[in-house]
Amino acid sequence: MEQVVTKRRVLGQIMICNGCCCGRTEKGRPGIPLDRLKSRWKEEKLLKSIQLTVTGCLGPCDIANVVSIQTPDGPAWFGGIKEESLYDELLEWAIASRDQDKLLELPANLLPYRFERFQ
Ligand code: FES
Repeated sequence: MEQVVTKRRVLGQIMICNGCCCGRTEKGRPGIPLDRLKSRWKEEKLLKSIQLTVTGCLGPCDIANVVSIQTPDGPAWFGGIKEESLYDELLEWAIASRDQDKLLELPANLLPYRFERFQ
């Protein structure tokens, strides 16, 4: 079988959960600045470098809000994100990574929210 190859390779991919719990302010969950993120991602033409995917439930609703970041090193999961500013830090990280054409260290302020997803 021929090897499957995509022309749409990226440095990394950010999956922001916006499911039944994450971002559901009406349920008392923290908000997500989705409109701002989407418009800035478009303005900066970031999709060719860092894919932004807004998803349905990623699973660990008990620690909403959840973000998963996919890199060549594997996935990194973050939960319990309350501050909208952390999403802006991810935006800045994506811009800086794009500008340097390599994935930079993730924002330090995000690291305390990292958790293990798999058993
Ligand atoms: S809604 Fe985000 S983990 Fe379920």
